[in-house]
Amino acid sequence: MAKHNEAPIPGPRPAPIVGNLPRFRKHGLLGPYLRDWRSYGDVLRYRLGPRDVVAICHPDELRQVFIKQRSRYAKGVSVSTVIPLIGDGLFAADGDHWQRQRRLLQRLFTANAVRAHERAMTAAIDATVDRWRALPPGETLDILPEMSHLAMDVICRTMFGVAADEGVYELGRAVAEAFAWVGEEGLKLVRLPVQVPTPRNRRFRRAKAKIDRFLGEMISARRARGLRDDAESDLLDLLLAASDEDSGERMSDQQVINEVITIFIAGHETTAVSMTWAWLLLAGHRDVEAQLHAEIERVLGGRAPTVADLPELVYTRQVLDETLRLYPPIWVDPRVAIADDVLGGYPLTAGTVLMPVLFATHRHPEFWPDPERFDPARFAPELAKARHPMAHVPFGGGPRVCLGMAFAYQEMVLAVATIAQSFRLQRSYGTLTDFDPKAGTLRPLWPALVDVYRRERD
Ligand code: HEM
Repeated sequence: MAKHNEAPIPGPRPAPIVGNLPRFRKHGLLGPYLRDWRSYGDVLRYRLGPRDVVAICHPDELRQVFIKQRSRYAKGVSVSTVIPLIGDGLFAADGDHWQRQRRLLQRLFTANAVRAHERAMTAAIDATVDRWRALPPGETLDILPEMSHLAMDVICRTMFGVAADEGVYELGRAVAEAFAWVGEEGLKLVRLPVQVPTPRNRRFRRAKAKIDRFLGEMISARRARGLRDDAESDLLDLLLAASDEDSGERMSDQQVINEVITIFIAGHETTAVSMTWAWLLLAGHRDVEAQLHAEIERVLGGRAPTVADLPELVYTRQVLDETLRLYPPIWVDPRVAIADDVLGGYPLTAGTVLMPVLFATHRHPEFWPDPERFDPARFAPELAKARHPMAHVPFGGGPRVCLGMAFAYQEMVLAVATIAQSFRLQRSYGTLTDFDPKAGTLRPLWPALVDVYRRERD
């Protein structure tokens, strides 16, 4: 084991029993953490109630936890609050079970496999464009619900083969309610088991029951109809048919429900939030917007983009990468140490919860000159290649890297190229610095209002 510091990991002094929890109650974790990062450095310790929590952000430490020493770390208690919602769905799974499920699901999410969802994605994007075409010029929209609507429609059409309708929005509301419960639980000193009938727990359990009922009925209907095995198959067909390469085993209905909820949540909230920030950034950076328009015109010349255009839409992807750097929707990607280790020169004992703060990694001054500046040129291929491989990790890294990364890029590049081809968004209100401390993802705190104008082709 590497040599280590004798001094304890620095951090703000904890109060008895509650530790450092009170400093996060009002503002959430991120804001206070960013202040503490400046004072205490890249490895810093908190005490949250009974638990030691160590926040890290340097790419070397991320590489150690996500790749080199990954057998010493697990999701474990760090995801205990999401388990009542997604059970042992992939995001929260560990060990052999995770490995088996990852192998099963991976095949459905390779760049090649997600190309099959092009039609479903473009249908959802076109529906948004059509809706916006009917707006009067300069209409003000809150772009976050617009992008949530779009992303939910994408996941619905790809997963269930149907456009999002009232039933699906109801499912979305139940998921949002359950997800809010998860976020609040994370900051509680004393967590009562979810079975204890407090009004909050009862609301959560009602929402969860609604989700399970909706998905259970969807699965039964699909089994009754028979699974499709052709170009029109949706993700539900593929999930129900997927079998382990070695054992040939299929998932139980409950396992399918857990994976569907996981993919439904992971697959629409993150892309919605990312596209929201992308529009807010583009609206405030006319030079970047002009380069984006120039690429879209050069590559597409006015026709709609297809997946075959993705390799050519290089700058569009750079805009998204730079957006994900500044606003990673999953800004922290926790783990728990299951064996002792030495991290950043400090000894770390098993049981410590780790908080890799991706938001801070993405603004680390050692890797990002002028880190607050929005500059997609940072992701020009030769610059990106020369950078530390863990300096830009909006999708995590190592074997647990986001399952839906290729899906997300395909959806977002198609959506941004299609929408930017037809519309210019001008920011009328919305800040780039205030985040909603109660949201599970990096959502803007205030309404993100933009004025939407039709573009004439130059
Ligand atoms: C901009 C969009 C997205 C971002 C930034 C994002 C980010 C992440 C991150 C940071 C993780 C955690 C990795 C880790 O544990 O180290 C993750 C995991 C995951 N994501 Fe995404 N994600 C996005 C879109 C999607 C989409 C579209 C889907 C599915 C359609 C998806 C499905 C998943 C799943 C299933 C996992 C768990 C993977 C595992 O633990 O093996 N994500 N994502």
